[in-house]
Amino acid sequence: MLELLLHCRPGFEGEAATEIQTLAAERGINGYVVTRDGAAVVRFVCPAAGDAERLMGAIDFRELIFARQWALGSWLDVSTEDRISPIITACASGPIASRLWLETADTNDGKALAALIRKLERPLESALLKTRFVRPKQVDAPRLHVFLESGQRIFVGWSWPDNAAAWPMGIPRLKFPREAPSRSTLKLEEAWHHFIPREEWDSRLAPGMTAVDLGAAPGGWTWQLVNRHMKVTAVDNGPMARSLMDSGQVEHVQADGYLFKPARPVQWMVCDIVDKPARSSALLARWLTRGWCREAIINFKLPMKQRYREVMQCLAHVQDALDAANIRASIACKQLYTDREEVTCHVRVLHAGSYKVQ
Ligand SMILES: C[S@@+](CC[C@H](N)C(=O)[O-])C[C@H]1O[C@@H](n2cnc3c(N)ncnc32)[C@H](O)[C@@H]1O
Repeated sequence: MLELLLHCRPGFEGEAATEIQTLAAERGINGYVVTRDGAAVVRFVCPAAGDAERLMGAIDFRELIFARQWALGSWLDVSTEDRISPIITACASGPIASRLWLETADTNDGKALAALIRKLERPLESALLKTRFVRPKQVDAPRLHVFLESGQRIFVGWSWPDNAAAWPMGIPRLKFPREAPSRSTLKLEEAWHHFIPREEWDSRLAPGMTAVDLGAAPGGWTWQLVNRHMKVTAVDNGPMARSLMDSGQVEHVQADGYLFKPARPVQWMVCDIVDKPARSSALLARWLTRGWCREAIINFKLPMKQRYREVMQCLAHVQDALDAANIRASIACKQLYTDREEVTCHVRVLHAGSYKVQ
């Protein structure tokens, strides 16, 4: 029987489970969740034949906030003597893939399987190439996910490149830029990779654009904007890194980010202030409805309880404010790999009906 396997941040299995259950119910597809706290994966099992495929086809992966990656497939129990033959047999009943992704859960148990993954990778890949279940030239074909829960229990599944994350386990391999003043810099870079197609970076993250960074100090996010040659207003009572100030592209405003109003509209507003999610979403709605920015990236820091509900309320609040102002925008939200107890929200204004800058 086919099912969906979803990767998430360890500790957020409950949110990932509620989310997939909610979306399946909305689409009238029956299924149940199998997971445990800290597993970093959630199974969604659909008892009726064809339902798991239907569900995957009916959900836009970008709708999923708490799932980093997903695949459609089934489980194998394998012996330690020969893991490859059963995987090859399972591939015979699936689509041709463009590549193999060997995966584990993002947990200590998963990391402990690294040596086995290394041992398996070459021989499995060559068996898949020989049998032609993997054909690297078919670049648009699905990816084959071979997920090791343990040395004996393996999930074999597929994801489609236009409806899944672009990285194994949904984890992009980003290199920390040595000149950036804080590790948070990777959060904004990952958000861009996630929310903005690569071919649009040159027009949407273009040199000369203006940006406001709320809660900017010491400047990891500002560094990313400066690196794209934007002019940045960095709002924070805390100190900004000297190197950034020396770039000549940054104006540091020591003020409360919630009260700050830009002198003129900017392309980008980004915000990494640690506060209640309701306050952050109200701030986001204000910036968008007053026409102060065209695109925004903001973190919603999540409380310990009711995290799924809280995110939904924040997004509904932003959507309601946009609707009331007659502004059409795309809203997306994701728990990125670099997000801890938080999610990242991206909004892009597409059309502002009675767009007035206030
Ligand atoms: C998580 S840090 C931001 C890190 C930053 N994005 C980076 O990459 O270096 C949060 C920042 O928000 C600032 N902050 C907190 N409340 C604020 C407020 N009301 N207005 C402006 N900044 C605020 C803090 O001073 C702190 O520097």
